[in-house]
Amino acid sequence: MAYAIAIDGPAGAGKSTIAKRVAKELNYIYVDTGAMYRAMAIYFMDNGIDCNSEEQIQSAVDGVDIRIEYADGVQQVILNGSNVTARLREEAVGRMASATSGYGCVRAKLLELQRNLAETSNVIMDGRDIGTTVLPDAQTKIYLTASSDARAKRRYDELVEKNGNADYEEIKADIEKRDYQDMHRTISPLKQADDAVLLDTSDMNIDEVVAAVKKLIR
Ligand code: DC
Repeated sequence: MAYAIAIDGPAGAGKSTIAKRVAKELNYIYVDTGAMYRAMAIYFMDNGIDCNSEEQIQSAVDGVDIRIEYADGVQQVILNGSNVTARLREEAVGRMASATSGYGCVRAKLLELQRNLAETSNVIMDGRDIGTTVLPDAQTKIYLTASSDARAKRRYDELVEKNGNADYEEIKADIEKRDYQDMHRTISPLKQADDAVLLDTSDMNIDEVVAAVKKLIR
């Protein structure tokens, strides 16, 4: 069996930054499952699907084909034949992904894709339910978190660097709303698996977190 490392945690905890670095250093494949929910969200947005209508979501899901490819080790998400990787990080896409990831039909479709990827390769996979649902037998499970203040501050700094300005209170409110949605949905809510190690990164820098994660894997 391939080796699997599951990293779960709330939005903005640094999961993808850390997982990417560790994957590169250990020569594992990095699987970003949030990107799959985001690709699904792009489909719903582009097709005018109402995120509050389970009926519309259900019939739309059948028309979605998501594939994962790698270009120079970087995950690319192909939605119905088009590479949508460049649009995945848009704020509206993240909101739509959070709002639609509670539907069973959405989760079932992506679960299969996620498990298939972990069957054939050593993976480091991040998301919300990897340790609890997707890969319950993963050899290493980490729950990566940070206070909402620390996460909002990191996002704020990122946006200021990119755009020159940002609204801290709006970012923090958005993060807290997303946490609530992700933790309170009925199917596969975000929670620490019983056998996952908790890593609070509020007062740690990236190098420190990478070192801590590698130590846990060893
Ligand atoms: O990690 P992210 O911000 O890219 O995830 C976007 C949304 O997708 C997140 O708010 C909830 C959902 N998601 C999920 O429900 N399960 C996962 N394994 C990964 C993401």
